[in-house]
Amino acid sequence: MSELLFDDAQLLAQLKGKVVVVTGGNSGIGRACVEYYASGGAKVVWGDLKNSFGDEGSDITFSRCDITNWAEQVRLFKTTIEKYGRVDSVVACAGIGEPYDIFTDEFDESGELREPKSAVIDIDLTGTIKTLKLALHYFKTQSPQGGDISMIGSLASYRGTPGLYTYCGSVSAIGDHACESLQSR
Ligand SMILES: NC(=O)c1ccc[n+]([C@@H]2O[C@H](COP(=O)([O-])OP(=O)(O)OC[C@H]3O[C@@H](n4cnc5c(N)ncnc54)[C@H](O)[C@@H]3O)[C@@H](O)[C@H]2O)c1
Repeated sequence: MSELLFDDAQLLAQLKGKVVVVTGGNSGIGRACVEYYASGGAKVVWGDLKNSFGDEGSDITFSRCDITNWAEQVRLFKTTIEKYGRVDSVVACAGIGEPYDIFTDEFDESGELREPKSAVIDIDLTGTIKTLKLALHYFKTQSPQGGDISMIGSLASYRGTPGLYTYCGSVSAIGDHACESLQSR
């Protein structure tokens, strides 16, 4: 059995002064990232639909951002650039699970089959790709160039899960194969 060992002190030391954008920073993995990066001395700008934490001091900045909304994502990145001049890391945590099985038939008042909802694809796939697009844009245009991006997958990125059709499709579509196709960028 293999074992992964992380030296927290060494990892935290690498974060000092880095400029980090986090989406979905109000809860769960995104919130943990905001706090972890900030604890290492990084400057964090985070977006989410809401802010349950208020003012967290000068090194943690909130910018309201629904990742399905291009203008709000642009604002998140522009806020970062205006404040710190660059972006070193982007952590794309905003996402939702699949709250319903789209293949369960639902009907409208006239008895017609309802169009399936696309929220999971809109947020977990299309919204995350918009974050990736902005990250790559700033990584290419800033000086010095470069940066790193983390996108949150799932076990469902690698194996089918009954009832989670659009979730599996979305998290596998931002997974390893898609990332390989970005290598020349
Ligand atoms: N927690 C796990 O064990 C786990 C495992 C595998 C994958 N994931 C995936 O990782 C991602 C984050 O999971 P989590 O457990 O931290 O979830 P969470 O619900 O705790 O946090 C997700 C955050 O994303 C935000 N969000 C939702 N829609 C948004 C939108 N349109 N724009 C901006 N922000 C939005 C929410 O407000 C919330 O703060 C999800 O996509 C989830 O499916 C989580």
